[in-house]
Amino acid sequence: MSTTAQSRPASAKRPGTIGKTAGGAMAQGLTPRMLNHLAYVTHDVAATADFYTRILGMELASTIFDDRVPSTGENFPYFHIFFRMADGSTIAFFECTDLPPAAKSTHPAYDTFNHVAMQAENPAEIRRWKAWLEQNGVEVLGPIDHKGLIESIYFHDPNGIRLELTTPLDPEWNRHTQQGYADLKLWVDTKEKAKREGRDPAKALIDMIHEAKKRHGRDG
Ligand SMILES: [Fe+2]
Repeated sequence: MSTTAQSRPASAKRPGTIGKTAGGAMAQGLTPRMLNHLAYVTHDVAATADFYTRILGMELASTIFDDRVPSTGENFPYFHIFFRMADGSTIAFFECTDLPPAAKSTHPAYDTFNHVAMQAENPAEIRRWKAWLEQNGVEVLGPIDHKGLIESIYFHDPNGIRLELTTPLDPEWNRHTQQGYADLKLWVDTKEKAKREGRDPAKALIDMIHEAKKRHGRDG
């Protein structure tokens, strides 16, 4: 890469320097402690509460209602509800009093890739979850083995949010940092090189993926 990190916007930093510079938060001991909550809009808080408590075994953790959003002051009357997992992290919803349906995705990939993954104890528990969900009329995909890293099942909540229950197969699954930086650099460099040379970045990335899969066997 010919351009320097300083001459580029923050969103396009050189991959080798991402997160590692002296000015980074991690160097100051600032890393978020855990997931506190993810929040989504629901149009049916009763069905949502039934799903997350009775079917997913979470505890109703907390509720708030107000006629105004405290952070922005916007006049959106709402009911806010949090469901608690075993580690204390939560999934939260807002039911607003008068909200039209959300806009549809522009491509089905958004609906496949955007998802929330919750952790299960082990592969046996993943199978117990699958049986339990299916007993309750929930359609389940999997279990899928993700290259020996994790094993997962997939399903949807009543709001259409794609959910995953997963368990690590590799105990170090979230510690592959060095390989991660190498992969990140390969992806970003491939895309930028293609752009510089006036080639199609999408085709260059697909070729790179195919090359990597050939090197590492059928599943990459
Ligand atoms: Fe996932």
